[in-house]
Amino acid sequence: MSVQVIVGAQWGDEGKGKVVDHLSEKVDIVARYQGGANAGHTVVIPSKSKSGITEKEYVLHLIPAGIFHKRVTCVIGNGVVIDPVALMAEIDQLKSAGINIDGRLLISHNAHLIMPYHKLLDTIREQGENKIGTTGRGIGPAYIDKYMRTGIRVVDLLNRDVLCRKLKQNIEEKNQLLSQIYHSKELDVDAIINEYQEFDKRIDPFVTDTSEYLNRALKKNKKILAEGAQGALLDVDHGTYPYVTSSSPTSGGACTGLGIPPQAVTSVLGIAKAYSTRVGNGPFPTEQLNEIGERLRTIGGEYGATTGRPRRCGWLDTVSLKYSIQVNGIEKLAITKLDVLDEFDEIHVCVAYKLNGKKLERFPSDLQSLETVEPVYRTFPGWKTKTSDIRRYKDLPTKARKYIEAIASLSGAAIWMVSVGARRDQTIWFR
Ligand code: GDP
Ligand code: IMO
Ligand code: MG
Repeated sequence: MSVQVIVGAQWGDEGKGKVVDHLSEKVDIVARYQGGANAGHTVVIPSKSKSGITEKEYVLHLIPAGIFHKRVTCVIGNGVVIDPVALMAEIDQLKSAGINIDGRLLISHNAHLIMPYHKLLDTIREQGENKIGTTGRGIGPAYIDKYMRTGIRVVDLLNRDVLCRKLKQNIEEKNQLLSQIYHSKELDVDAIINEYQEFDKRIDPFVTDTSEYLNRALKKNKKILAEGAQGALLDVDHGTYPYVTSSSPTSGGACTGLGIPPQAVTSVLGIAKAYSTRVGNGPFPTEQLNEIGERLRTIGGEYGATTGRPRRCGWLDTVSLKYSIQVNGIEKLAITKLDVLDEFDEIHVCVAYKLNGKKLERFPSDLQSLETVEPVYRTFPGWKTKTSDIRRYKDLPTKARKYIEAIASLSGAAIWMVSVGARRDQTIWFR
C-alpha cells in the first residue's frame, strides 16, 4: 500500500501543481481529496511546436495535476465539491489541447455538486461586512449543504426524478433566503433543472465508486498520490479560522476525502514557498505592505491562478510552518520559488512571534493574538545569483544553501526538493 499525500504547508499557491505534475511520472493514480474550483494548480509542460519545444501553461481547478502523464489515472474524490460547469470547461480545455482523458478520469459518485445558488450566495455574503475574501466559487455554501444533509451529489445527476426533487427543494429554500434575507432576485427553478439535467450525459462516463477503485488499487500495490488543494493554514479546523476555506486540506482530509484507510498513507510531503503569500483576508504576521512585498509579487508573479487577484506577500514564517508540519505530520518539505529571492540583498525569516512583549514560539490559535503578534526575524544575506538554471544542490550558491538548511533546521522537516522555476526541469532533488 502506498499513498503519498501532498499538502500545501502555507496559505495555498505553494506550487502544488508543479510538484504533483512532476511526481506523477512515478505514480499510477493522482487523486484530489477536497476543495473545488477555488483551487488553481499551475502546470507548465513542454509542448512541441513548429518552432521547436515551447512551454505551455495550464491552470487546473478540479482535475488532478497528474493528467498530463498518459499512464496516470486521475480521481476526483468524494471530499471534493464539483461545479459541473467548471468541470466541463476544464475537460473541454484539455481535450482541445490534445490531452486524452477518456478512461483516465474518475469522479466519485459521492462528491457533492456546486449549484448556481451556491455561487450566488457566496458572492452575496461577501458583499457584507467581515468578508473572508473567498474565490466566489460557491465553496462555503456547497459544504454548508453537505453538512446540512441537503446537498446534491454526483450520483443524483444520474437519476432525473431524484435530481428534480432535490433541486426543487433546494431552490425553493434558497429563494426564500435570497428574497427575504438578502433582498435579491429569486432563481428560476425550471431553468436550473434543465441546465443540470444536461450534465448527466457528459458526466456519466466518468462516475464511479472511487473509494472502491482506490482500495482495489492499493491491494494491487499501485502508487497513489493524494493531491491537496489550498493549504494547512486555510484548513477549516486547523487554519486561521474564520479566514479559511470550508474543507480539510490537511493530510487527515485525504482519508475521508478519498475513502481510504489511514494505514495506506505512507508519507506526507509538504510544499512551502521560500517566502509567504496569502490571497483573501485574514491574519498574515509576516506580510510586507511595502516595497519588499511588491518586489516579491512582481518577481514571483503573485497573482491568483483562479481569480487573478494580487496575492499578499511577505517573508517566510517558520512559526506557522512548524505548526503546519505538526498538524499534517509532514516528514519532508519541498521549497518552491527559491529563484524569486535571487535578487534580494537580505532575506528575513520569522523565527518567533512576540505578543505583548513576550516571546511566543507556538502558533496562536485565536485570531486576536494572531492579528497582534509581531514577528521576530532572523536576517540572511542574499546570494545575488541567478538560480533558475541550477539543477544540483551543490551548485547552488553557498548563501542559498545556508538559507535552505536554516529552513530545515527552524521548521524541523527534511528538505526533499527545491524548485527554482515553474518548469518541470527547474527542480533540484535531494537524493
Ligand atoms: P498551487 O495552487 O499550489 O498549485 O500554486 P499556483 O499554481 O497557484 O501558484 C504557483 C505559481 O508559481 C504558478 O504560477 C507556478 O507556475 C509558479 N511556480 C511554481 N514553482 C515555481 C518556482 O520554483 N519558481 C517560480 N518562479 N515559479 C514557480
Ligand atoms: P490552491 O489550491 C490560495 C482562499 C481564498 C479565501 C479563502 C476562502 O490554488 O492553493 P473559498 O473560495 O475557498 O471559500 O475562499 O481561501 N483560497 C485560496 N488561497 N490558494 C487556493 O487554492 C485557495 N482556495 C481558496 O482566497 O481567502
Ligand atoms: Mg493555486
